[in-house]
Amino acid sequence: MGGSTVPIVASHCPQHKFVIVDINEARIAAWQSDNLPIYEPGLDDIVKKVRGVNLFFSTDVDKHIAEADIIFVSVNTPTKLFGQGAGKAADLQHWEKTARQILRNSTTSKIIVEKSTLPVRTAEAMERILNSNNKGLHFDVLSNPEFLAEGTAVRDMENPDRVLIGGRETESGQKALNTLVELYATWVPRERIITTNLWSSELSKLVANAFLAQRISSINAISALCEKTEADISEVAHAIGLDNRIGKYFLRASVGFGGSCFEKDILNLVYLCEYYGLPEVARYWEQVVTMNRHQEHRFASNMVHAMFNTIAGKRVALFGAAFKANTNDTRESPALEVCRVLLDERAAVVMTDPHALDNARYDLGQLAERVSFELDPYVAANDAHAIAILTEWAQYKELDYEKIYASMAKPAFIFDGRNLLDHKKLYSLGFNVYPIGKPALTHLHAE
Ligand code: UGA
Repeated sequence: MGGSTVPIVASHCPQHKFVIVDINEARIAAWQSDNLPIYEPGLDDIVKKVRGVNLFFSTDVDKHIAEADIIFVSVNTPTKLFGQGAGKAADLQHWEKTARQILRNSTTSKIIVEKSTLPVRTAEAMERILNSNNKGLHFDVLSNPEFLAEGTAVRDMENPDRVLIGGRETESGQKALNTLVELYATWVPRERIITTNLWSSELSKLVANAFLAQRISSINAISALCEKTEADISEVAHAIGLDNRIGKYFLRASVGFGGSCFEKDILNLVYLCEYYGLPEVARYWEQVVTMNRHQEHRFASNMVHAMFNTIAGKRVALFGAAFKANTNDTRESPALEVCRVLLDERAAVVMTDPHALDNARYDLGQLAERVSFELDPYVAANDAHAIAILTEWAQYKELDYEKIYASMAKPAFIFDGRNLLDHKKLYSLGFNVYPIGKPALTHLHAE
């Protein structure tokens, strides 16, 4: 349970006191200010309602561990970058440190809830550390994975498809599990709260993300084929999505999926399969990530190819840095990967985004020095040879493309990595338009 979810739980459970603790002082200060550290539609209002009432923020982690009856652990578990499993396994060092910190500061028995996405059987390690104490304390560890998506966190949390809680099948495990069920039941209908054993719960989180990402990689794989065959990916997605067994969601072809979860969780699943001696299963899931990287690079190569095989020195405007609309998060954003490829080709990249420029600058590291960051998309597009739509911000649909076209170098190109815009209209304005998985609309052949 992270910063965007606790305020919602607190607003539904006024009888309980919640404290968000973090060692990062700047972050805790931001939570207490008018400028929250997370941009999430609807979150501001909820935080204002509960802050200082039954929701508090603190950097005094030890004190609040001691006082709590239930501790939700949502420390980050990035992909491990060193040693065994480097590049795939989850880095559990924060997780283990937290377990030891809980033990050190506890004087009463507690329920510990695993919120971070973790490999299967991690709860076991937590249990072992906690219950190896000689203070006579007992800890019940539950798994309660998060299924909300960024940008729609408030809606997803207010009205979840399901809440999943995994626990031990022991008497005290079941008692702990029921305590958490009761907490959610204050606003979530009972039939949507499902309970499983610990390992099913841990694994379900990884599998849910793997299946979602697999749908995007599948439709993106077909988008490449559409571009060769004059089939249209939107028509294909619509036609297959009407089959109830397939369903219409998560079939929007794109420049690729991003975010802090999909790639990390799939690699985590891949590592688990390798660890348990299932190399074929590992390769099967790994291909979802490989396909995604291919889609990002394919998009960037299409740009270079369309622009007469050279973009060195050409100004290229990237519309969008966030990994999707309505968030300021740029982690694993396809926009950044496209940016890297274009910089390799020595393009003069200018990046615009309504909320995510600071994060983009940070995530690009040293490369940021070679990118211009521009809040105003009209200024970004001025004198550019090409625009690439990389995040599906609604405001990009409302821009005056006639004015933009007039300000650009000619021939002017638009590469729509989200199939967001009205392609025919752009074409009629004079643009050469390159969607994903559809025939390009270009004025160039006629000349
Ligand atoms: C994802 C899952 O959707 C959540 O259920 C899960 O709880 C979360 O990860 C997590 O593990 O914490 P999130 O990363 O916030 O949520 O974003 P998504 O809405 O799933 O989008 C992921 C990426 O896929 C974005 O880059 C998005 O633009 C892209 N996408 C999505 C497509 O390219 N096409 C689609 O049809 C849908």
